[in-house]
Amino acid sequence: MASGANGSSGDTVLVTGGLGYIGSHACVALAEAGRRFVIVDNLANSSPRVLDRLQRIVGWRPDFVEADIGDGARMARVLREHRVGAVMHFAGSKAVGESVALPLDYYRNNVAGTLALLEAMRAQAVRRLIFSSSATVYAADNAMPLREDAALGASNPYGRSKLFVEHMLRDLQAAEPEWAIACLRYFNPVGAHPSALIGESPRGIPNNLVPYIAQVAVGRRERLSVFGGDYGTADGTGVRDYVHVLDVAEGHVAALRHLERAPGWVAVNLGTGQGVSVLEILREYERASGIPIPFQVVQRRPGDIAQCWAEVARARDLFAWRARRDLGEMCADSWRWQQANPDGYG
Ligand SMILES: NC(=O)c1ccc[n+]([C@@H]2O[C@H](COP(=O)([O-])OP(=O)(O)OC[C@H]3O[C@@H](n4cnc5c(N)ncnc54)[C@H](O)[C@@H]3O)[C@@H](O)[C@H]2O)c1
Repeated sequence: MASGANGSSGDTVLVTGGLGYIGSHACVALAEAGRRFVIVDNLANSSPRVLDRLQRIVGWRPDFVEADIGDGARMARVLREHRVGAVMHFAGSKAVGESVALPLDYYRNNVAGTLALLEAMRAQAVRRLIFSSSATVYAADNAMPLREDAALGASNPYGRSKLFVEHMLRDLQAAEPEWAIACLRYFNPVGAHPSALIGESPRGIPNNLVPYIAQVAVGRRERLSVFGGDYGTADGTGVRDYVHVLDVAEGHVAALRHLERAPGWVAVNLGTGQGVSVLEILREYERASGIPIPFQVVQRRPGDIAQCWAEVARARDLFAWRARRDLGEMCADSWRWQQANPDGYG
């Protein structure tokens, strides 16, 4: 266990961004694994109602501190007072389009925010970190499936902010080898907890495909726009690797166990290893919901690639983890959440 500055060993996990979509599911996975955790979130993209929902799922009220990860003094206090031994760092801004319009906001929150968190961790001798990275750190012209040693190169400020942090973490671990750091490169997390108590609650127009489909199915939006029907894929629509958010959450617990055994820096894909086209997921969603989803094929979006899926051997070999839930479960859980919470957390 990492040693806190007060000299006592800490085994609490700090979950930054723990009221957000993926972080809240990670809290459930931590509780199921019998781990203590404390959530820090500034509510920039989440609702305090998530805490009530988490309480209903896990049976007790998680510790929560409303704070910004950029506030280093505050973060140091949280690490010390909660005897934190490891950090799962989900907090950040994640909308690609917004990052193009507001690059400095993204570099401040994602890069400078992470830097402040790392300095606080170092001051408190907490040196175990799992970072939410993304498949967007890979260059566009790699062969599929994407291996972790494929060429890197993001094409927008959001992706670059993730890449900068990966480099920063690698440099830190090289200089101070006692750090244990995993950069988890998520592919496309979808779905929700089967209780329908927590799920993805996008503000405004959803940026991601499955929440958009869900809002069409529930009647909030008229039809889906499919960006590009002339890609060199089986049905002409874009192919991605969709992975159930609970599998992603469990991947974090598996990564934590790995880091407890092995210091170092590692980047690991979290995906299923399967590519699924837009039309395939649309049909699966229709099956899960029993509702026809109107759609129209429109022009490709600039910057989109035809296909992208993960090589998943490293996660299997290092973490003994693989995605267990299939596309049907992803759609069924998303639909259950959407029906029970048509306006998200409201
Ligand atoms: N959802 C995806 O498809 C996806 C894919 C790859 C990577 N990621 C990354 O995973 C992480 C979690 O994504 P998500 O989908 O759960 O997003 P989310 O927006 O639902 O969750 C992020 C949480 O962090 C909080 N937050 C943001 N800035 C903060 C700050 N400065 N201090 C404290 N809290 C802050 C927000 O309020 C929110 O609750 C993000 O870093 C994101 O970039 C997400």
